[in-house]
Amino acid sequence: MSEFTAKYLADYLPSDFTIDTVNLTVELDDHHTRVTNTLAVKKENLEQSQLILDGEHLKLVSAKLNGEQLTSDAFEQTEHQLTIFNVPDEFTLELVTEIDPANNTALEGLYKSGGAFCTQCEAEGFRRITYYLDRPDVMAIFTTKVIADKATYPYLLANGNPVERGELANGKHFVTWHDPFRKPCYLFALVAGDFDLLKDEFVTQSGRSVALEIFVDRGNKHKAVHAMDSLKRSMAWDEQVFGLEYDLDIYMIVAVDFFNMGAMENKGLNVFNSKYVLADKDSATDTDFFNIEAVIAHEYFHNWTGNRVTCRDWFQLSLKEGLTVFRDQQFSADMHSSAVTRIQNVKLLRAQQFAEDAGPMSHPIRPEKVMEMNNFYTLTVYEKGSEVIRMLHTLLGQQGFRQGMDLYFKRFDGMAVTCDDFVDAMADANGKDLSLFKRWYSQSGTPELTVTQQFDAELNKFKLTIVQHTPPSEAQPEKRHLHIPINIELIDPVTQQVTNQLLELTDVQQTWQFDASNQPIVALLGDFSAPVKTHFEQSVEELLSIIELGDNSFCIWDAGQKIMAQEVTFLLANQNAKPSESITRMMAAVMKADYDDEFKALMLTLPSFEELVSGLNKVNPQQLLDAVEQLKLFIAQQFEENLIGLYQTSEQLLQKTDGNTGDHTNDSAEGKQVAARSLANTCLSYLSMLPKYHHIIEQQFTQAKEMTSKLGALQSAVRHAPLEVGDKILSQFEQTWLEDTLVMDKWFSLQANMQVDTIFERLEQLMARDDFALTNPNRARSLIGAFAMQNARYFHDAQGKGYQFLAEQIIAMDKINPQVASRLITPLIQFKAFDEHHSELMVKALELIAAQPELSRDITEKLNAALLQH
Ligand code: TRP
Ligand code: ZN
Repeated sequence: MSEFTAKYLADYLPSDFTIDTVNLTVELDDHHTRVTNTLAVKKENLEQSQLILDGEHLKLVSAKLNGEQLTSDAFEQTEHQLTIFNVPDEFTLELVTEIDPANNTALEGLYKSGGAFCTQCEAEGFRRITYYLDRPDVMAIFTTKVIADKATYPYLLANGNPVERGELANGKHFVTWHDPFRKPCYLFALVAGDFDLLKDEFVTQSGRSVALEIFVDRGNKHKAVHAMDSLKRSMAWDEQVFGLEYDLDIYMIVAVDFFNMGAMENKGLNVFNSKYVLADKDSATDTDFFNIEAVIAHEYFHNWTGNRVTCRDWFQLSLKEGLTVFRDQQFSADMHSSAVTRIQNVKLLRAQQFAEDAGPMSHPIRPEKVMEMNNFYTLTVYEKGSEVIRMLHTLLGQQGFRQGMDLYFKRFDGMAVTCDDFVDAMADANGKDLSLFKRWYSQSGTPELTVTQQFDAELNKFKLTIVQHTPPSEAQPEKRHLHIPINIELIDPVTQQVTNQLLELTDVQQTWQFDASNQPIVALLGDFSAPVKTHFEQSVEELLSIIELGDNSFCIWDAGQKIMAQEVTFLLANQNAKPSESITRMMAAVMKADYDDEFKALMLTLPSFEELVSGLNKVNPQQLLDAVEQLKLFIAQQFEENLIGLYQTSEQLLQKTDGNTGDHTNDSAEGKQVAARSLANTCLSYLSMLPKYHHIIEQQFTQAKEMTSKLGALQSAVRHAPLEVGDKILSQFEQTWLEDTLVMDKWFSLQANMQVDTIFERLEQLMARDDFALTNPNRARSLIGAFAMQNARYFHDAQGKGYQFLAEQIIAMDKINPQVASRLITPLIQFKAFDEHHSELMVKALELIAAQPELSRDITEKLNAALLQH
């Protein structure tokens, strides 16, 4: 099947050539955009006589070397490369190529989104714009002249500062941009279009003024205000926490509807998926507001961790992504509840990264073998990568970590470096041996800790033993031990005193001894100090004591999750049993505890389907869903009064205060409302298990003044209410929001979540609508992705209809946009987590895809890995 070849980290060689300057002239046209690319090239390896440039889907119009037209025997063109023979040691190359942006549905390189031209070059999209050394360690100074029709494209943007603009014949105009910072071509960007522009200013700590500009579709200017505020908060935070200041005179963000990912940190000109820019109270949820702030921060933070210091090669992706995710998580924690933010990070990691690491695409945060780079923008590289940085932060402390960052920038500013370089800077700045720690970069899989305890009441000694083990994987049959920071809390149940310790596990097994007059209760992995699974037999009494006496919010929450997960496991194993006492005791403790609303909502929420799957072995998905629903119904019945009480109190708070201040930070009135809405929706989700409360779903939907409550009602409706209720309010919602793309994405997702046996007919009808198109990634994900990742009941249909539906959509999508198709395949390749019946059906669906001719490199890589496991 595989005519594609892989690349290996071990094969890295520096480039034979460097590029000093790039001068681009881009004459925009829907189907015939002309790119003139003038490169100043220097030979670094004097043995090398030929220059090999990357290029795909390009039509070569002309090629000149030092001003002389190249004859046809002087170069060779293949599907992926342009080779120029017998080049001198230093020369200028002028290449003219033509491209077809209007037919670019892969959304890599130059393409059209709505009426605008935009680019996406990371990872290897620049080679679809012009011939180039498309690798991150080739860093050049870019000057870009953009030419287009003035009436249709009044704004012409590129990286850096505008240096010249003017009018041309035939109604055209041009703007020339110069970026004074050396950069790899993946950070190149160009945008042309007609926009509304929101402008602001930021004065840096050294007193320089930076113009801030956010470009959005006409009519949406008011929806960019939150993004602008988020940007200013990010800039201030990076100065305060890391001493890092912005470096250009202008920072631009453009929001587009057609985008493969979240956003892109192009130097001085970020391009964003509009879903991470646009928000107002009517149309966006509290989660949307939170995510916009986080993504704006993430891309801004890349200016230092990614752009000023970039990756030597793509195997080092986590150098910038893990570090930047860590930075955006710290920022979000500072802006909001740090406890809630941290728990959300952990939920994502456990639900999705653990699954990835247990599946066929398991890879280290620094992969060793890559066939299609786009397949490695993963939860492992991003989220586990961030956990690895967080462990360094835990081991070195806030101050030590900052010293390491300072040294990193001092050594490597303006360079393309490796993950080893980063860890070395951390080690050198702190005089700490991190050689064993580096194994986190090369070993895949989720480590498992087995913990045992022993108390000697006569000697007043408490012993804790921890053994580590990482299960083998296909690519790494033998795993070795890691350097693992383990935060623990020892709770004395008599004095109720709590003490904190940071343990460093640096061997397969270690034992620690503590003085203790009473047998302490251990709260393990405070703040989730390492991305591991734990096996630690603790009684319900011990777990309840952690909930009642512990200091660490993560451990408190985790103890509750453990009781819930144990209950689900019990119900799964005992089909006719009733939920036990322990869940009642735990819920009672949570109900009477004095938590803030948002934390209480998390304490009340059962572990997600995916989180549960990652703790089980070859589970029957239908039985797991039954067990969860049984437990949820039981809690709703047992705690009906508490739930309705909490629901009403939250609703009252929401009616009383009008927190529409735009300030979403934790202690503000708005922050309190966010928390109250979260609690109200959590309670509603339980109450809607009981038919007598179905009327409050519609009531909440009708009375809600903002999107979070509306959506909460809709979610409860599609999951638990009778079909008529769901269909009625969904159709009202559709009437209101038909013209708003981002809200209609939510509507499609709600439809995909419907718990009805006619779901497959409904999906077909939805895909036949005029406003559904596979060419729009957000829309495709909102229906197909939401079905496969959120509607477990029907995705795991016992006849395999859900798997087959997804396979068919992937086949269609792969021809249009391989990157998006490849992301959609994730739930299918993780078949090993499920029982034989379901995993066989999943494999069948994969084989259906594999039987197609001409699959993309993206899909091929994942299919190969998955079917190898079968
Ligand atoms: N570097 C981007 C980030 O901030 C990721 C990204 C955006 C991306 N668009 C992409 C990666 C397209 C691959 C392809 O995380
Ligand atoms: Zn990033």
